[in-house]
Amino acid sequence: MDEALTARAAQLREELNHHIYRYNVLNDPIITDAEYDRLFHELRELEQDHPELRMPDSPTQRVGSDLSDDLPKVTHPAPILSLSNAFSPEDLQRWEERNLKLMAQGTTFDYVLEPKLDGLSVVLTYIDGVLVTAATRGNGEVGDDVTANIRTVKTVPLSIPSHADGPEAPPRLVVRGEVLFLKEDFERVNAEQEAADLPRYVNARNTASGSLKQKDSRITAQRPLTTYIYDIVDSDGVMLDNEWDTLDYLRDMGFNIIPHSQHYPTLSDIIQQLPTWESRKNQLPFEIDGLVIKINDIAARRELGISGKDPRGATAFKFPAEEATTKLLDVVVNVGRTGKVTPTASLDPVFLSGVTVSNASLHNYDLIQQLDIRMGDQVIIKRSGEVIPYVIGPVTGARNGTETPIIPPESCPFSGDVLVRPEGAVDLFCPNPRCEERVFRSLEFFVSRGAMDIDGMGPETVKALIDADLITDEADIFYLQADSILELEGFADKKVENLLKSIETAKGRPLSQLLASLGIDGVGGVVSNLLTERFHSMQDLIDTAKSIKQLETDFLQLVDPLTHAKATAADVIRAQSRLHNPLIELAPRYVDASDLSTKLSRLLKPILDANTPIDAIAEKLQKLTETAKPLLTIEGLGPILVRNVVNWFADDYHQDLLHKMERAGVNMIAEQVEKESTSLEGKKFVITGTMSVPRGDIKALIEAHGGKVSGSVSKNTDYVVVGDSPGSKADKASQLGVTILSEDDLRAMVK
Ligand code: IVH
Repeated sequence: MDEALTARAAQLREELNHHIYRYNVLNDPIITDAEYDRLFHELRELEQDHPELRMPDSPTQRVGSDLSDDLPKVTHPAPILSLSNAFSPEDLQRWEERNLKLMAQGTTFDYVLEPKLDGLSVVLTYIDGVLVTAATRGNGEVGDDVTANIRTVKTVPLSIPSHADGPEAPPRLVVRGEVLFLKEDFERVNAEQEAADLPRYVNARNTASGSLKQKDSRITAQRPLTTYIYDIVDSDGVMLDNEWDTLDYLRDMGFNIIPHSQHYPTLSDIIQQLPTWESRKNQLPFEIDGLVIKINDIAARRELGISGKDPRGATAFKFPAEEATTKLLDVVVNVGRTGKVTPTASLDPVFLSGVTVSNASLHNYDLIQQLDIRMGDQVIIKRSGEVIPYVIGPVTGARNGTETPIIPPESCPFSGDVLVRPEGAVDLFCPNPRCEERVFRSLEFFVSRGAMDIDGMGPETVKALIDADLITDEADIFYLQADSILELEGFADKKVENLLKSIETAKGRPLSQLLASLGIDGVGGVVSNLLTERFHSMQDLIDTAKSIKQLETDFLQLVDPLTHAKATAADVIRAQSRLHNPLIELAPRYVDASDLSTKLSRLLKPILDANTPIDAIAEKLQKLTETAKPLLTIEGLGPILVRNVVNWFADDYHQDLLHKMERAGVNMIAEQVEKESTSLEGKKFVITGTMSVPRGDIKALIEAHGGKVSGSVSKNTDYVVVGDSPGSKADKASQLGVTILSEDDLRAMVK
């Protein structure tokens, strides 16, 4: 035996075991996951070529475990294996060669290529077509029982086949898949966190894992998780020859299958595909950390067997590292348009998945403190998809004592105002709406592509126009004149002409687009559409907000004497806080209430006495509720968002800004959608499953005939329109006895 190889294997074992200890016990890794993977891979290759080097203390002999103390356990019917890794086309070729050597001469393989989803494994057991258990991978033999939680995940069928024309369910079927957040769902979860002034989640995979392992499945139910199924672990009565047919079978059963899987006749075909996947992965609806390549022939896979804990018949191709370590040189304070302060890391430039990274987000100062990141630290940064790179944490093992703590700023570096931290928020804010940086960021956002989309007005132009005092707010843009812009350096005739033309075009943008461009907290594309469905002009919104504000002030004045008593009892404090926030805490409860006065007395009982003018209070609240009703009853608009919208429109500065735009000719009226008929007037619809056209088209069809579409089935729903692979909404509809329509039924109704 080559002594050098023996020594190298021993060294790798020792190093890896040390890193495992640092990572798992000390919670203090000093290398990135990618660097760890590389060392692990090297050791495994060595052991594969020289099995006598494989020692019992080798980390390759370890089966990972993520078992939780709190959940019951489920024993898997067969080991839940993991996958070996390949990092290059050469690794893949070697993998094939090794496999071919183990097979009869003349064997050839065809393959299935699947995205490697960055989520967590689940194992689902169906007995006689009914989902009976769901378990995490755990240590590969025993997993955590997450059945109640998985039942809340809409893409998991509670019984199979999910639709009548699927194949008959076998007596027992155990399948495996991955639970994750789709990128847009994770974004939404974070938008909701932000709207509620709660911290953003950083890592989708960890959040999915935390959501799935909740003890209370009602919490899981609020998280929009998705599951894809990719394997049959065990079964009674299912005989399939190859992977590609397996995927078809699973799809026919009604499971959610990764739609991007592909069948290739040879490994070279797969290798040719690799470069396209590196760019393609950013366009996928979910995060992937590589590709899985599986030999198609199931008998061959069985014959090849297992090496350690990995089946030989499949492997994972990992994309190049998305994490790197580098030095934190400085922390720059960024102030956004809302005034939110984001600490940003200046880094020693480092090359990471194809680009040089010299800045990364540090999220907020709380997190810096929690992670104990210090100036001068070696930090681990991560880049995934197209998002801005962010700092995961410090490499504390690499400290030399010269690192210094990072102190949060006390004042805004641009306006000098003292920074504030709203109650319960993790971020600091510059409170001054006139802060030059906030103004710049708002204007930059206002003209940008996703907003008013003013061509030819990039950040530099915005900056130049602000510096020349030609614009100080969004409305000024619509008053720009050619002669004053021409005086600026770098602005020639043609450029100015084009710019003014784009500004002119922008004046006619739909009201919802203007609304989404104003930077109102929580009001993006979706919410602005909801608002313009209900409010037909900007003035409508202003008037409603002003009335609400006035009624709120009156209400607060009236209840003022009740809220002063110093209280310690929890029910008194709760009642007082409700009175303090009538728009959020009271009005939403009474939108459809009859006999508000009795209900309110009950709610406020702990602080009422015989002298309280409860009828007068109820009357004021009734008025407030009625006035706020058009906002409070928009489905998808929670009370906090309503609060933001009201505050924004009731603000004099914002009203003046909008009127100034209006005088310049900016459109302030919502487009009236011509109704085709009123045949569905007053009817509430829910759409579920896949239709022959995008769901938005079905929604538009219903609305064009006067119907309303909502997201969830309740007893108020009149019809559920069901397409292919419907989710649990269809089940709920049948439980509630709601009429179910096919797409054709719907079309017949409006004919
Ligand atoms: S196949 C024997 N297919 O990757 C079958 N796994 O590193 C082994 N994963 O623990 C799994 N996407 O959680 C397979 N399309 C896919 C996958 C996939 C993600 C995960 C799985 C596994 C890990 C292995």
